[in-house]
Amino acid sequence: MADILRQDRDLAWRAERLRHQPELPFPVLSTKIKLTWRCQLRCRVCRLWRLAQLDPARAGLPVDLVKSILTELRAQGLVKVHFSGGEVLTYTGFKDVVSHARSLDLQVNFTTNGVLLDKAWARFLAKERVHTITFSVDAPIPELHDAMRGVKGAWKGVWKGITAVQDQPKKSGRSPVIAVNTVITRDNIDHLADMADLLLSHGITQWRLLPVASPDKKVRPTPEQWSTLAARATDWHDILTRPPILGHPEQTEKSARYAQKGRYAGAFYDHVMCLAPWFHVFIDANGAAYPCCMGKAQMPVYGNLMEASLGDILASPRRQEIRYTLAAGQVFPVCHNCMDFVDENQAVAELSSAELAPSETGQP
Ligand SMILES: C[S@@+](CC[C@H](N)C(=O)[O-])C[C@H]1O[C@@H](n2cnc3c(N)ncnc32)[C@H](O)[C@@H]1O
Ligand code: SF4
Repeated sequence: MADILRQDRDLAWRAERLRHQPELPFPVLSTKIKLTWRCQLRCRVCRLWRLAQLDPARAGLPVDLVKSILTELRAQGLVKVHFSGGEVLTYTGFKDVVSHARSLDLQVNFTTNGVLLDKAWARFLAKERVHTITFSVDAPIPELHDAMRGVKGAWKGVWKGITAVQDQPKKSGRSPVIAVNTVITRDNIDHLADMADLLLSHGITQWRLLPVASPDKKVRPTPEQWSTLAARATDWHDILTRPPILGHPEQTEKSARYAQKGRYAGAFYDHVMCLAPWFHVFIDANGAAYPCCMGKAQMPVYGNLMEASLGDILASPRRQEIRYTLAAGQVFPVCHNCMDFVDENQAVAELSSAELAPSETGQP
């Protein structure tokens, strides 16, 4: 998305104006859809699989609803969909929604624990030209990964899945990009150098470190661990797709203290307005729509797509209210914990309004 905002002059101009004109029409460019809460793993830091057990009848989105949302958003400018869960490979309609999204020419990415991804899935995903598959690998040590994922055999399963996708190019000449997510907790933070080596040894060059979202202080790394990581992470710039936490290079201690409190974006949003509520929409497995995945913790829900149309959801007064709040310079506390849209927001912040004069065919 950051590249689109950098390269599309009219969009970049609009994005830059949103602080002053929050009502300026702006397309939803990306969406993240949680297809299901169901999952066969039991990760220590994840509460989603518990939601499926609490209310099995409401644990997933109807396939037809997902397809119609994608069709409507596409007509309004959507370019990318990210499917997640729960575990998408337990969702019965997954093939159907992937094929539909690809028939709309959308970029399709998804995140998986990888355990159910076999050769047949790999063939299908390559045939559909899925863009990026993000596998979750939490540690370079099999026993630690399995302990964090709550199920023995999770390590073996995820590498079987990664290998199945990596084997595809030899057969069909095309294959999705493989990326890896690692949730950083107090348990695995000291093993990340070995993790970087492991990924490189498997030819994986896209790695995202996700600071754990947890109210439990004991799960979150200590300030000392964050300081060490911030220093070490510079060695991995070839594979890290974004830094694990944000901070001023000369203020490592302050950033580490912020990170220990869960404030992973440091002071970034003290100066920059987040544009996600304009260019993104997050939909959970119950149909609730929010500005973003993190935002669901504190921002009001726009509405529910099981009950209201997409048009009504996007025009909802709550969506307008959230955007006016941000445009007025107020920041939701949860925004300081979020690294999801730093690249996009940075891209727009770097474009000065002088550079962004509207093009001849462009906007007022
Ligand atoms: C909720 S999972 C769903 C996709 C899939 N089941 C998986 O594990 O990859 C999406 C991503 O969130 C990460 N995750 C889960 N719980 C988290 C937490 N408490 N804080 C930060 N990331 C978390 C997972 O490791 C995964 O990379
Ligand atoms: S595999 Fe994914 S959805 Fe399942 S419990 Fe772990 S993080 Fe949650």
